[in-house]
Amino acid sequence: MAIIYLDNAASTWPKPPGVKEKMAEVIEDFAANPGRGGHALAMKASKTVFRTRVQLSRLFGIQNPNNLFFYLNATQALNQAIKGFLKEGDHVISSSVEHNSVRRPLEYMSKTKQVEVTYVEPRGDQLFHREDFVQAIRPNTRLVAISHASNLTGVILPVAELGEMAKQHGITFLVDASQTAGVLPIHVEEMKIDMLAFPGHKGLYGPQGTGGLYVHGDIDLEPLIHGGTGSQSEAIEQPTTRPDRYESGTVNTVGLAGLLEGVSYVMEKGVEDIGQHEWELVKKTIVGLGKVAGVTVYGPGSETKRVGVVSFNIQGVDASEVSFILDQQYGIATRAGYHCTPLGHQTAGTEQTGAVRASYGIFNTEKDVEILIEAVSEIAAAFR
Ligand code: ALA
Repeated sequence: MAIIYLDNAASTWPKPPGVKEKMAEVIEDFAANPGRGGHALAMKASKTVFRTRVQLSRLFGIQNPNNLFFYLNATQALNQAIKGFLKEGDHVISSSVEHNSVRRPLEYMSKTKQVEVTYVEPRGDQLFHREDFVQAIRPNTRLVAISHASNLTGVILPVAELGEMAKQHGITFLVDASQTAGVLPIHVEEMKIDMLAFPGHKGLYGPQGTGGLYVHGDIDLEPLIHGGTGSQSEAIEQPTTRPDRYESGTVNTVGLAGLLEGVSYVMEKGVEDIGQHEWELVKKTIVGLGKVAGVTVYGPGSETKRVGVVSFNIQGVDASEVSFILDQQYGIATRAGYHCTPLGHQTAGTEQTGAVRASYGIFNTEKDVEILIEAVSEIAAAFR
């Protein structure tokens, strides 16, 4: 049975041509340590890492590639941003659809550093409005930290408007692009984003173990990790130069080589076209599932653009069971449960049930959507 992979919001698969080959080439030809030695193989490894940094900077409109630091995933990047930036008594504005990778570091800072957090909620239209964030501003608000899009409903937050708002009020703006990097256009200067966290293994089509954080040159974060950087080895303190200050330990050269291929593929295809493709699949899914008796689809309707994520439930059937049947009987890979976002589930009204999530990528087709809808119809009928 051919697999229909609809779990791209967790990790995209398959990867574009070239990713696997490039990673194998690094392993076979020059997997030396980047930035640690001056010999030819080390220099080749360094160049690979640097080229990935430059390509990502082009994608996100980052002027200085050294302001982009590599981490194993968006979660590590978000931890560096949040814990490295906040100080005792600060107030943060976030949203009620945050993934635990934003929420848990914020809650940790709340517990250990008396940081206050406001989670702004969407209105009746299920959308987020700038004015509600403005209302949440306090004299001690130092950070707005939000996801660009929900990993549960795909709802898109008004990042450019919130960047403008944050700038006007002198507040630092952190965006979690876990569901949008490679799917929606992101330009850190135009959108006034001060810090941007992103995974490499989702919409950028690199391997797992890659991700990064952009931090504006004027912001000095306290590094979370101290250690070898390959530079200023004689100093006992962490260097101040970037990216070394925030990249202790050997980076994932093999993974970053694969990420470079993935990002290049995305840029060649065009981010806007990819986003449009996923949106077409999402619309078809919302409309199709909406016609199946006993199925509830969460989030705004098919008239509101979202990223390639659709969550739903079949009345009276546990979400995990639906996902299990889809996998075992139909070869359709979805994710069920709470998707690491209990906040998002509270907002969607699914905190008791969880939900089944189908999420799309570049390689999904309309046929995949039709097969999913047919399968869900059969499961719903069987349990009626
Ligand atoms: N954050 C990933 C997801 O939403 C893992 O599935």
